[in-house]
Amino acid sequence: MDKRPIGIFDSGVGGLTVLREVIETMPGESTVYLGDTARVPYGTKSGETVTAYAIQNAEFLISKDIKLLIVACNTATAYALCELQKRFDIPIVGVIEPGAEMAVSATRARQVGVIGTEGTIASGAYFEAIKAIDQKVVVRTRACPLFVPLAEEDWADTDVARLTARKYLLDLKQDGIDVLLLGCTHYPLLKKTISYVMGDEVELIDSAVATAAKVDRLLIEHNISAKGSGDRSHVFFVTDSPERFEEVGRKFLCSTMQTELITHESTYKPEETGKK
Ligand code: DGL
Repeated sequence: MDKRPIGIFDSGVGGLTVLREVIETMPGESTVYLGDTARVPYGTKSGETVTAYAIQNAEFLISKDIKLLIVACNTATAYALCELQKRFDIPIVGVIEPGAEMAVSATRARQVGVIGTEGTIASGAYFEAIKAIDQKVVVRTRACPLFVPLAEEDWADTDVARLTARKYLLDLKQDGIDVLLLGCTHYPLLKKTISYVMGDEVELIDSAVATAAKVDRLLIEHNISAKGSGDRSHVFFVTDSPERFEEVGRKFLCSTMQTELITHESTYKPEETGKK
């Protein structure tokens, strides 16, 4: 039995969709979450910048004695997962590979759509992950940047969201995909609206669900699961604006949260700014 927490980071509040699945799938596990709210969004930043942020986030969480790290942010996974896995010697799981595996096993037509931030789509990471599993699957991708603010504004189920979704997704629908991979932390909140546009015949794949299932398997394989030890805790850190994180985060997590503040300096160094 290993009671150490699982570390999870995201550019902000969106990774709570992954945390939610982790808690639901592994109710016995403790977690430490870091939302880099001072530097969100990652989706419009360069790979170099996102990788530098990801390394700092990982260092901070590893200093909290985590047993496994989940990179909940799709953009950070796309750009930085390999670098993190090279640098740190704990198991590190991103959201792209699990989502890609689930999408490939779900598609009958072998036509998969992927939506995500500009960075995630430009990186080609989902495209490559799907092709690595099955070369014959046709992959159509589309960046949908406005879905992030719509989810945070709690406008996921409004006419504005439906109009935006139609604008982004109609081409994908016409391409004949039968599976659409939600390659961004925020998109699970828009499932109803996305489904409304894509129709019932298109299955939506949530990377968060796939990732939680993979982490569950890994904990058992590495013999580091908490095995329902009972006394678990969920601790939250943010790099800025804890009040906004709590307010917006409640929509993502649907439970009471404990937020602790890391004071953000303009050059962010977790080891220097890690005061509670
Ligand atoms: N968390 C990001 C992702 O999943 C979305 C928000 C952002 O752009 O930082 O790619």
